[in-house]
Amino acid sequence: MTENLDNSILDAPRIVVKPPGPKSLEILKQQEELETSALNYPKYFRIAVKEAKGSTIIDVDDNIYIDWFAGIAVVNLGHNNPIIRKAIETQLDKIWHYLEIPTEIRIEFMKTLRKTLNFDAKFLFTTTGADAVEAAVKIARWNTGKRYIIAFNEAYHGVTAGTVGLSNSTNHRKFQPYYDNNVIRLPYPYEYRCPFRDCLNEVLSLVEHEIKINDVAGLIVEPIAGEGGYIVPPKGFLKGLREITTEYNIPLIVDEVQTGVGRTGKIWAYEWEGIKPDIVTIAKAIGEGIPISLVAYNKDLDKLPQAFHLGTYRGNPLGIAVGNATLNYLMNSNILDRVVSLGEYAKKRFDEIMENYYKGKYDVRGLGFMIGVEFSNERKDPINVKPYIETLLEKGVIMYKAGIYDNVLRFMAPLTIPKQLLDRGLEKFEEAVKEEPRNA
Ligand SMILES: Cc1ncc(COP(=O)(O)O)c(C=O)c1O
Repeated sequence: MTENLDNSILDAPRIVVKPPGPKSLEILKQQEELETSALNYPKYFRIAVKEAKGSTIIDVDDNIYIDWFAGIAVVNLGHNNPIIRKAIETQLDKIWHYLEIPTEIRIEFMKTLRKTLNFDAKFLFTTTGADAVEAAVKIARWNTGKRYIIAFNEAYHGVTAGTVGLSNSTNHRKFQPYYDNNVIRLPYPYEYRCPFRDCLNEVLSLVEHEIKINDVAGLIVEPIAGEGGYIVPPKGFLKGLREITTEYNIPLIVDEVQTGVGRTGKIWAYEWEGIKPDIVTIAKAIGEGIPISLVAYNKDLDKLPQAFHLGTYRGNPLGIAVGNATLNYLMNSNILDRVVSLGEYAKKRFDEIMENYYKGKYDVRGLGFMIGVEFSNERKDPINVKPYIETLLEKGVIMYKAGIYDNVLRFMAPLTIPKQLLDRGLEKFEEAVKEEPRNA
């Protein structure tokens, strides 16, 4: 049932000319002339894209790739998904922009979304992940009248002026002094590289200590650190944070921008720990590529003045229609079970492959379709994975990096990927690891 929805090209990958082919090169050259030097992704994937189907991407030279990137965990139900396409087309015939003036689909979406959350939520629409995080932090500060936000060292919450202070990625840390400095940064419980003997409890006691001695307005956390390296914290982390923040009456903001909308095998990753957050940020896959995001917050926090957070494009009807279709699909199909079982299968295969070639000098971790493969050498020194990304692309698999040292490859395929493309991708991954021990 799930796989029929995914119109992937089933004999992918098919590489007819080594990427970048001549047509890709020409377009990349023109892009460089026209667009900012701050581009990021074309530095990793040297191709120009023609079209996409399901879990496959076709470049302008007619190479076909298996997509394990999903536009950075956005196209969770696959490219050109017929259900999503229909939701967009139906809404397109009605209206595609009218600010906050309500539409039927807007109300329907919020009612659907409420069914997926385990607390009595109200909603504030935004446009991007960072916009949702900014609004969430404002809600926490407004309600508590306090200043500091606790965030984690491996965190990524966006890079706008209002979020870069919360993100600690290597490329963005240097901008922090110019923006929001009211952030207390603590280590995430990153067990593979943890300086503490008891990672979980030491981190939790640091959190409690900082809350005791500072004017803390809120704590923001990713259930799995995404850009930070697909780091799965030890069991009990979110629960521990919930207990501490409840005790000190501090809003707990769970950033589900990357982990949400089914990626880990639950609609929201916080469900794995059975906690009730105060504020949840939602973006990326809720719109399947149509820019939409929002904040869900406990109705007790709904003391916000008129026009508290504005933005012309918030709550776009096309994005809302997609969000509604996406959540209904997640709730009414067997896809979440599939993500858990296929995710476990993929994790085991990644582990076997890495053990064969890296013999203990690696870490494979993940939940559902959020799997990280960390490379290191003898002394656990991080290994930059860029050469693997290039080799994988040449073999027809699109896979991206994560980690504050760029030392993690992350698997974030569409949740609908056909099993045969998952297996073929794993074969290519094994070939790449075998051929690419440049840094080992
Ligand atoms: C956890 C998390 N929060 C926030 C953001 C920022 O979202 P956006 O890029 O839409 O601003 C991201 C983006 O990757 C993210 O992974």
